[in-house]
Amino acid sequence: MNDMPNRPPHMGLDFTGQHVVIIGAGGIGYETARICAANGARLSIIDIADKSETPRANLVDADRHSWLKMDVTETASQLRIGELLEDADALIITSAYFPDEPALELMSDEWFTTFRRVMDVNIGATMRLSQLAVAAMAARGGGRIVILGSVAGRMGGLLSGALYASSKGAVHTFTRWLSLRAAPRGVNVNCLAPGVTDTPMIAGRPPADTSRIPAGRIAQPNEIAPAVAFLASPAAGYIHGQVIDVNGGIWMS
Ligand SMILES: NC(=O)c1ccc[n+]([C@@H]2O[C@H](COP(=O)([O-])OP(=O)(O)OC[C@H]3O[C@@H](n4cnc5c(N)ncnc54)[C@H](O)[C@@H]3O)[C@@H](O)[C@H]2O)c1
Repeated sequence: MNDMPNRPPHMGLDFTGQHVVIIGAGGIGYETARICAANGARLSIIDIADKSETPRANLVDADRHSWLKMDVTETASQLRIGELLEDADALIITSAYFPDEPALELMSDEWFTTFRRVMDVNIGATMRLSQLAVAAMAARGGGRIVILGSVAGRMGGLLSGALYASSKGAVHTFTRWLSLRAAPRGVNVNCLAPGVTDTPMIAGRPPADTSRIPAGRIAQPNEIAPAVAFLASPAAGYIHGQVIDVNGGIWMS
């Protein structure tokens, strides 16, 4: 027989008493924040954008949750987030840089500048914050980390350029690398890889070819966020090192 503790059955997502740190509160991050908050979480939201620049931010209860305007690539920001992580139960990283790449000349200064920014935001900051989180969570007995990858990291993507797609492939690999080391310390590290989703990230870009998506349409952020919130919840305590695909069927592992 198994020796699982005798816990009550999960009746749904329960973040009661939990502190969730969410990096990036755009389309998917904000929908995830709403779900976690509605199920009892106290939130620390970090975004490079000011709260006033994000109309939906007004929906977050300022008495209970905090919004910190920071660029997560800066060392000072990472150290401040490290302090927040000391009592965090979950870290969710949704921040990303999705540049308009196709016109970039490979040998131009512009290419190198874009390369550095994409890698700094999408994988550099992700690595540093996740590793800070593992140390802090392990010291408190465990926790959960969810990183946003992308279908672009699986199959190249419908809208993305080489730098963004490659950075997301790195996110998927890093998830597995860190999970192998974090799982024995009680920390779940997983990745959620969305398909094309209707958020500010893709605003103004050419429309995706929906005839290539079996579901026949792109996603809404509230179709991605529930899976992110689930992975950040105590209910996902035995899931380690997975890249979970939510993409309308365009890529099946
Ligand atoms: N929208 C899509 O089609 C799509 C598809 C696949 C994967 N994803 C991934 O899902 C995640 C969420 O995407 P989204 O569509 O919600 O994007 P979004 O642009 O709506 O939100 C991202 C948020 O991150 C913030 N951010 C960016 N750089 C930052 C920095 N340096 N420091 C702090 N905050 C920063 C932005 O201000 C923004 O609010 C990203 O990792 C993205 O790569 C999105």
